[in-house]
Amino acid sequence: MIQFKVDEKRCIQCGECAADCPAGVIAMEEYPTMANEEGCLRCQHCLAICPTAAVSILGRNPDDSTALEGNLADPVQLATLVKGRRSVRRYKKRDLPAELIDELLEVSWHAPTGVNSQAVLFTVVREGRVMDKLRAEMMGELGKVMAAGQLTDDLVGQYLGMALKAWQEEGTDIIFRSAPHLLLTSAPKSSPCPVQDTHIALTTFQLLAHARGVGTVWDGMFMMALAVCPDLAKWLAIPEDHEIGYAMVFGESEVEYHRTVQRGPALVNVVQ
Ligand SMILES: Cc1cc2nc3c(=O)[nH]c(=O)nc-3n(C[C@H](O)[C@H](O)[C@H](O)COP(=O)(O)O)c2cc1C
Repeated sequence: MIQFKVDEKRCIQCGECAADCPAGVIAMEEYPTMANEEGCLRCQHCLAICPTAAVSILGRNPDDSTALEGNLADPVQLATLVKGRRSVRRYKKRDLPAELIDELLEVSWHAPTGVNSQAVLFTVVREGRVMDKLRAEMMGELGKVMAAGQLTDDLVGQYLGMALKAWQEEGTDIIFRSAPHLLLTSAPKSSPCPVQDTHIALTTFQLLAHARGVGTVWDGMFMMALAVCPDLAKWLAIPEDHEIGYAMVFGESEVEYHRTVQRGPALVNVVQ
């Protein structure tokens, strides 16, 4: 199952794989060996840290990994990406290439998860025509809740009431911002950190998307709609034993931002 293999011709017996293993399941004999398969977190630190690409685990060939030296992001450009990312609320009525969406999801899958559970499920709308169906379903459900007088008087009820009115009277979609795609993350409630894992995955997706020139916005309005119309989660085929993390819409931006915003100073509590 774990398939821990060491190429003895490449191994320089440095012991880094054993020293770095967070679960301490690699024993350093003449060459490293897997001492406890069940205890392995499957994090692949052993494969990543080996200076000579001698370690293979989970059937992965270390030569298929990307070398880090010379390939890491420039920190100044990364900071500009973080500061220059804006919530996009106007989208082109065009689907993104499916391959681009797949690439973003595959890379986002590398985001960390508690105890390396890797259990986050990406529920994605890859086509604008499916988004249209989802929108129709959501507005229909919201209409029923409203007609039954079940929209609460609080902020959620007020926001959803306003969104429904804008849709019915002007055809304006405040909830999805007429974006062609949606990404929702969920994870089994039984996993160690479902809430954190789902949020980290979306944050990772968002930065990668913006690096590719794809606009996104976190969709709290849709989360509100999901809360009052639980059947929408069934419509999206989200497993019932999953905790829904959050949702984000995305697509080709209709707007272009020309500079970073200026925030801060950051709130910092220095412990003395
Ligand atoms: C958890 C969360 C939920 C959000 N929900 C919505 C939303 O429902 N609709 C919307 O237009 N923007 C939403 N936003 C975007 C915020 O309004 C936005 O991040 C904030 O105004 C700062 O702007 P910026 O993202 O361009 O820096 C949400 C952001 C977060 C983090």
